[in-house]
Parts: sequence; C-alpha cells; structure tokens
Amino acid sequence: MDASTSRITNRALHSDAVAGLSQTPKGLSPKWFYDALGSEIFEEITQLAEYYPARTERAILEAQLPRIAAHVPEGAALVELGSGASVKTRLLLDGLPQLSAYVPVDISEDFLHATASDLAADYPALTVTPVVADFMTPVRLPDLGRAPVVGFFPGSTIGNLAPEAAEALLARLGHWPHHQALILGVDLVKAPETLVAAYDDAQGVTARFNLNLLTRLNREVGAEFDLDTFRHLALWNAGEARVEMHLESQNDQVVRVGDELVAFAPGETIHTENSHKYTVERLSDLATSAGWRVDDFLTDADGLFGVFVLGR
Ligand SMILES: C[S@@+](CC[C@H](N)C(=O)[O-])C[C@H]1O[C@@H](n2cnc3c(N)ncnc32)[C@H](O)[C@@H]1O
Repeated sequence: MDASTSRITNRALHSDAVAGLSQTPKGLSPKWFYDALGSEIFEEITQLAEYYPARTERAILEAQLPRIAAHVPEGAALVELGSGASVKTRLLLDGLPQLSAYVPVDISEDFLHATASDLAADYPALTVTPVVADFMTPVRLPDLGRAPVVGFFPGSTIGNLAPEAAEALLARLGHWPHHQALILGVDLVKAPETLVAAYDDAQGVTARFNLNLLTRLNREVGAEFDLDTFRHLALWNAGEARVEMHLESQNDQVVRVGDELVAFAPGETIHTENSHKYTVERLSDLATSAGWRVDDFLTDADGLFGVFVLGR
C-alpha cells in the first residue's frame, strides 16, 4: 500500500471519483457535496438574495398550508427525502397536528443526526426516526406500523437528477408501503439570468460550496487538488433545461486522486451538478408516467416555484 492509498478513508467516494474523473467530460455526483461543511454552506446559500427557490418555496408552504393539510391523513408519517436542516419542514410539523411521525432521510450523516435530535427535542409528541440513505438506491423505511405515509421532497432536489432518473425515483417512492401522498417542490423554468445568478452569487458562497468538493476529495481520498487552480462556473444549458455547475481547471495540470493521476487541460471542467428546471406540464407528465396523479399544484404570484401534491 503506498502513502496515497493509505489516505483513502472513503472508498465509495474514491471509486466514484476515479470513475468520474477518467470519463470525458469529467463529472461527479452532487451527492458528494454534502459532508458536514457542505451541508452548512448549503444553509448559507438558502439565505442569499439571489437564491429565490428557498424563500419562495417556504412562502408557498406557509401561505397554502390549509390546502396541503387536506391531503395529509390522520396519524400520517411524514417522510422527507434530502431533509438537510429540515427548516421548511418545521412549517409542516407546526401546521399539521395530524402527523404522528417524522422520518428525515439524508446522505449527510452527522448533519442529519444533529438536526433530528433538535427536532425530537422541539416536537416531543412526534416520533422522529432519521434514516441515513442514498435516495438514488431503494430507501428502506423504518417500521411505521399502519401509519399512512406522506412523502416530502422539497428544495427542488429532484432537479439534480436527469428526468429519466427522476421518474425512476418517483416510481420507486410509490412502492413504499401505505404511501398515499407526495409533496414535491420543483423549480420552474424562467429567465436564464435569474437562474444563473441563483447558482453564482455575488458573495461567492456557491463557489465555496462547489470548491468544497475538492477539499473533501483531498481529505477523504488523499487527492492533491490545489483549490486556487480551479474556479466555480454556473451556466444555463437551454437544450437540457438545466443550470450546470462546473469546476474549471485554470491551467494544464496533473492531479493525484488516491492512487490515480488525473490530467486537466486549461479550461477543462469537472461537471459537479445539474439543476433541471421544469414547466408544470413537463413535471406533471413525468409524475403521471411514474404512477402518480397530480392532486394539487401550488405556486407563487410570479410562478417562480411549484409545489405539487401527488396522490396514487
Ligand atoms: C438542495 S439540498 C435541500 C435541503 C432541504 N431539503 C431544503 O429544501 O432546503 C439537498 C439535500 O439532499 C441531500 N442529498 C443530496 N443527494 C442525496 C442522495 N443521493 N441521497 C440522500 N440525500 C441526498 C443533501 O445532503 C441535502 O441535504
């Protein structure tokens, strides 16, 4: 075992990184953004003036809670995918007294456990059971007895998946026992300037979020990225209706990643995230193809963001 191999503490990240960085174009799954620091930086992003999705979705949930409540049965368990800091969730936990349990599901383990223990203390009447899982694979729920399940997938996180993968995920969620309704937050297509600004803020917080992936690779797979030689890029891909985030190499360089050497040409990028944007029709078609029915659709006055209530 050479010195670099012995510095690999995250085998799954290492094999994904080696596979993703040996492809053309280079890419990595956005799920790797979320170590504890990445989860904290994402919370900073939600506070930015440019990042309209978080405050808009929150305002929709707040204003339309009675309409949402009509789809949540007595004794329901709320299961949230990609729960993060569960900030918007508190609106639902406060406004839906019929809930009996809350199951936050996230890949960011330490952040999830810290958030879940705060929630358990703040909502003593609720059973809070965190589940560490990758929602790109089938997620096994804890035993919820006969409680009807209401899914909650906010934050437009579904936009990180290609539409085919999003449809497959929605179809898988339909197989959870007693899954009756799914509250799904989706960012809608709009002017490219507004979209790109949301992923390229003036303070550089999103740049820090993106570059933290290289810090994580350095720490967990013994990589040797020099962060000063990469820059954050956000661009609108009109053909695919998505904002893309990349990390662009500023020069010709070879970077060690564990026991591999990865060559970068000047201007070559690592594609780190897609955020697909939907029209109401496109998302409705996708949900229907995945076996769901659109029971309600809530939006803001400017049509920036959509909250779909899906049923089966
Ligand atoms: C865009 S943030 C949204 C956070 C929060 N739901 C909100 O609306 O503010 C995405 C969340 O999903 C989690 N996540 C990303 N990819 C994941 C995956 N493949 N499996 C499980 N959780 C994932 C991240 O850790 C993060 O908490």
